[in-house]
Amino acid sequence: MTDLIIAPSILAADFSRLRDEVCAIDQAGCDWVHLDVMDGHFVPNISFGPAVVEAIRPHTNKILDVHLMIAPCDPYLDAFAEAGADIITVHAEAGPHLHRSLMAIKALGKKAGVSLNPGTPAHAIAEVLDLIDLVLVMTVNPGFGGQSFIASQVGKIAQIKTMIGDRDIVLEVDGGITPQTAPSVAKAGANALVAGSSVFKGGTPDDPSHYQATMNAIRTAATN
Ligand code: DX5
Ligand code: ZN
Repeated sequence: MTDLIIAPSILAADFSRLRDEVCAIDQAGCDWVHLDVMDGHFVPNISFGPAVVEAIRPHTNKILDVHLMIAPCDPYLDAFAEAGADIITVHAEAGPHLHRSLMAIKALGKKAGVSLNPGTPAHAIAEVLDLIDLVLVMTVNPGFGGQSFIASQVGKIAQIKTMIGDRDIVLEVDGGITPQTAPSVAKAGANALVAGSSVFKGGTPDDPSHYQATMNAIRTAATN
């Protein structure tokens, strides 16, 4: 995959108007829809579960990119697959059986991703590189939208890009992505950018052109 993928995180959307928000980002030309699932245990915040993924599914044909910040994750993989997730990403830190979780996602017929917290080194994915479809590098400590980008992760993105080599694996970055931070991660090799606050802030689903402008600004900054 060579084109840059923009995946707005609906964590920053107006939850009281979720259907309208999803339709608005779809219409505004997002590539994927990023869904942040938080359990109040693996991360210090609670967001939503499979019922919300299922509720969104009929309102967009875009890829649903489900980021599970939950531990344990294995008991819930089925439910997210059934709900309509296309990509299911689990955290390498979420449990001792990363390989098993990834095999379970593949067995469900879904794309499998691994996410790394800022404190986790690149080599944590070394033994699963031949299993995965996506690596998600966190550039904030997961749990909340609107945090500041941790620039020290850019070197790790470049390291992972090298580890991926010519494998068909998407290198996605999540946290604090704006038109200002996007160029450094794209230059390091990221080809999918999650953006929550920078896309949704200041907009409403009544005006998708605002979302389109913010996504275009990120895309332009990252690809120039
Ligand atoms: C953080 C989530 C992110 C977050 C990104 O725990 O995984 O997807 O919503 O939000 P911003 O773009 O506001 O940092
Ligand atoms: Zn996320």
